[in-house]
Amino acid sequence: MLVRLGINWRGSVVGADYLMHKAVKSGVDWSALREDFPILRERVNGHALIYFDSAATSQKPTALLDAVRSYYEHENANVHRGLHALSARATEHYEKSRQRVADFIGAKTADEVVFTRGTTESINLVAQAWGGKFLRADDVILLTEMEHHSNLVSWQLLAERIGARIRYVPVRDDGTLELEKLSSLLTPEVKMFAFTHVSNSLGTINPVADLCRKAREVGAVTLIDAAQSIGHMPLNVQEIGCDFLAFSGHKMCAPTGIGVLYGRSAILEATPPWHGGGEMITSVTLEKSSYKQPPHRFEAGTPNIAGAIGLAAAIDYLEEIGRDEIFRHDVDLSTYALDRMNELRGLRVIGTAKEHAGVISFVMDAAHPHDLTTFADRYGLAMRGGHHCNQPLMRRFGVTGTTRASFYLYSTREEIDQMIDILQKAIRFFK
Ligand SMILES: Cc1ncc(COP(=O)(O)O)c(C=O)c1O
Repeated sequence: MLVRLGINWRGSVVGADYLMHKAVKSGVDWSALREDFPILRERVNGHALIYFDSAATSQKPTALLDAVRSYYEHENANVHRGLHALSARATEHYEKSRQRVADFIGAKTADEVVFTRGTTESINLVAQAWGGKFLRADDVILLTEMEHHSNLVSWQLLAERIGARIRYVPVRDDGTLELEKLSSLLTPEVKMFAFTHVSNSLGTINPVADLCRKAREVGAVTLIDAAQSIGHMPLNVQEIGCDFLAFSGHKMCAPTGIGVLYGRSAILEATPPWHGGGEMITSVTLEKSSYKQPPHRFEAGTPNIAGAIGLAAAIDYLEEIGRDEIFRHDVDLSTYALDRMNELRGLRVIGTAKEHAGVISFVMDAAHPHDLTTFADRYGLAMRGGHHCNQPLMRRFGVTGTTRASFYLYSTREEIDQMIDILQKAIRFFK
């Protein structure tokens, strides 16, 4: 019997075991859907492209390309500043896109959605603007050992500047967080608890709603790095109960250079501006300026209008398929891949958590990750080899890097079979 995989809105997933060895029944024709992605027709080194690097950036469907093209052909003008028809069209579309994002993440209002360049900029905004105002020397910022550098270096920069301290929740051998240590780490000195929803190296899915609840109990503000989860699973900021949430469009079928910072309205209103410039002010004199309300206070200068419109188009595309379906598909693929990887001699998977997304990291006795990914590329297989912007995590596992295969809605079991063949070839080649 195939049990439906359920998401309990606490960021954890139930039923993954039942997917082992079974093709997932779903209403989506996953192989027909590949036609939506023109780049999948590319050939690389004489082979059909197998794109297993979606955790780095996703491929783009025609619907997104059409939306961006249509914007430039019919609406292109600057927003919020022109009194002519095109500017009104562009402004309306840009602000509608903000509302689309708000609905997508379950924000209370569109004013809680700030457009940024991506996850990295969103986190830096919080660290510099909110952290710069509200954190003091000796306050504690709690992070985890599995954070991407963007959710680590941004806080180190702030901590160095103001003399704050950073603590880390350690990671267990299976790639889950050592949550039993939380009671000694998450103390009242912690003013910010920032953590990833899904690890970009390990694939671990963290119980984000539980973590937010525990943070609230000690009065800590929370920030979730949703870069790897936003386009892959249902997610609702009010259900999760976070204060801030950051993500990038390019990992969810949208263009590069656009991302979002969600901030709970009360906390965004209390946060001072970050970048100064046009469009974020209400008045400017030579002595002093006053600032708009959020979100515009945080969007100085001409924004990425086409990017925001593209992001809304990507959301439409993903929602038509359904994020729960996409999640089931990801889990089916990673479960299948992990099972097939058992056949490979000298392969060690790093990150074997039960709550696992479509990201698999591994090391092989046969070759260094860089050599392995270069070898795979000869067969048209795109994977990532290296530290994945997780150097402390790599050190924790005693490796300098891993090879990472990451899947998305256009990935297939057949491609995983081809990956296994290529890895078998690599074992023979590097012997
Ligand atoms: C978990 C995580 N956080 C943050 C980032 C940074 O995203 P961006 O480079 O789009 O700002 C990434 C990108 O790989 C990521 O995987």
